[in-house]
Amino acid sequence: MNENNSCKHIAIIMDGNGRWAKKRGMPRTFGHKKGAENVINITRAMKESGVKYLTLYAFSTENWKRTEDEVMALMNLLREYLDKEFKEIMENDVRLLFIGEKEMLSPDIQEKISELEEKSKNNKSLTLCVALSYGSRQEILSAVKKIARDAINGDIKIDNISMETIEQSLYTKDIPDPDILIRTSGEQRISNYLLWQLAYTELFFTNTLWPDFNKEELTDIIQQFNNRERRYGKN
Ligand code: FPP
Repeated sequence: MNENNSCKHIAIIMDGNGRWAKKRGMPRTFGHKKGAENVINITRAMKESGVKYLTLYAFSTENWKRTEDEVMALMNLLREYLDKEFKEIMENDVRLLFIGEKEMLSPDIQEKISELEEKSKNNKSLTLCVALSYGSRQEILSAVKKIARDAINGDIKIDNISMETIEQSLYTKDIPDPDILIRTSGEQRISNYLLWQLAYTELFFTNTLWPDFNKEELTDIIQQFNNRERRYGKN
């Protein structure tokens, strides 16, 4: 894969697992299983490509409205993924971060994710940020409440509230904004994902369903991004 110097952070909306399964006459949960396997392939490819941050939309606040069976299957996949893959995550020097309304998750998952964040916190090759029970409007709302509380308590003056104050109050305070957003499966929407952080991000939409999205397509997108950068950013 081509070494790339300019793209630090890729965010992905992994869409199309259900349609992938339906096309094969299989239940939606089979599509999610294949989707989870592809998370592993794409994380490996990201590390090879030199990208430093990967943010994946694994479960949105809206996803809680899916059937109980589907929500349970997704949560079980997450448990399985975290247990099975953590060894490889550590061996590959990957730092795990989780963003979202963590308090909505079941206590065992909350415990597991804080344990994995803590154990991997000094890893440097790639930061894998998993958006779980995540909604961008909810994130902004919670930032507004925090800043309002700080203002009432006298910790910040209203005139001193800046873009940076807002950025530092978001779940993503420790990571740079995405350079590239990829959404698979042909939908061209942002779906309440990183609304603040995507302000200057280059957007890429592909018809490929998430379980079929591969390293070649990822490389091609990074290449297109590098061309767009040369054209608009560097002359
Ligand atoms: C969209 O497919 C995908 C999701 C609801 C979430 C993504 C989940 C995974 C890739 C599974 C692995 C997750 C973890 C955390 C290990 P869809 O069901 O909306 O597909 P459809 O639009 O074709 O119905």
